[in-house]
Amino acid sequence: MKFFIDTANLDQIREANDLGILDGVTTNPSLMAKEGITGEAAIMKHYETICSIVNGDISAEVVSVKFDDIIAEGKKLAAIHPNIVVKVPMIKDGVKAIKWFTDNGIPTNCTLCFSAGQAILAAKAGARYISPFIGRIDDSGWEGVQLIEQIVNIYAIQGYETQVLAASIRNSNHIIQCAEVGAHVITSPLEPILGLLTMVLPPTVHCASLPDKLYWLLKPVPNISHHSLVV
Ligand code: G3P
Repeated sequence: MKFFIDTANLDQIREANDLGILDGVTTNPSLMAKEGITGEAAIMKHYETICSIVNGDISAEVVSVKFDDIIAEGKKLAAIHPNIVVKVPMIKDGVKAIKWFTDNGIPTNCTLCFSAGQAILAAKAGARYISPFIGRIDDSGWEGVQLIEQIVNIYAIQGYETQVLAASIRNSNHIIQCAEVGAHVITSPLEPILGLLTMVLPPTVHCASLPDKLYWLLKPVPNISHHSLVV
C-alpha cells in the first residue's frame, strides 16, 4: 500500500518524506488556502516546490467544473512537472475530462467519490486513482472502509487498473483498516501516519478485553449496593 500525505504544509511534507515511507502528495484548494497559498501563480509555484521535495505522484486539483475549463486548467497543472496527477471531481464533466486526459497521456485522480458506481465510471474513463472519502462517509453514519473494500473487490473482478486511494483519513486505525481491505494507496494528514508509531494495541485486543472490564465493573463490591453499580 502506497502512502501519500494529504497536506500543502511543506514542513509536514518534508517530515513524512524524511521518514522514508512517502510515495506521493495530495492537496486541494482548501489545504492550499490553509497554508495561505492563494492565486494561480502562488499555487502553481507551490506545486512546483512540492514536486522538488517528493519524488512521487503529486495530485494537483482543478477548481473548474465545466469540461472545457477543466481541460484548460488540467493542461496547465500537468505542465508544471511530469509527476503531476490532475485531480478532477466526480461530476459528469469531470468523467468526460478524465477520459480526455487519459486519451492524451495525462494521469488523473478522480476525487470526491462516495459510491461504487462512481468508482466504476472513473475506472472506465481511465483514472489512475479513485479517491473515496472515508472519513466523510463515516460522518454520515456509514462505514467508509466498507466502500474501500467494495471498490477494491470490483476492480479486481473487472481487471480495472485504477488504484483505490483512500482519502479523508481521520485516524491511524483508518490506515490499518485500509491496508486490511487491500487499498492500493492511502492519503493522510501527518498525524495519523505518525500515530502508527505509537499505536500499540489493535482494536480487536481492546474488544477482547471488554468482557473482563465489564465483569469488574459489575462485580459487587463490599459496602456498595449492587444497584449503584448497574449502569
Ligand atoms: O483527501 C481529502 C481530504 O483532504 C478531505 O479530508 O478530513 O476534510 O474529510 P476531510
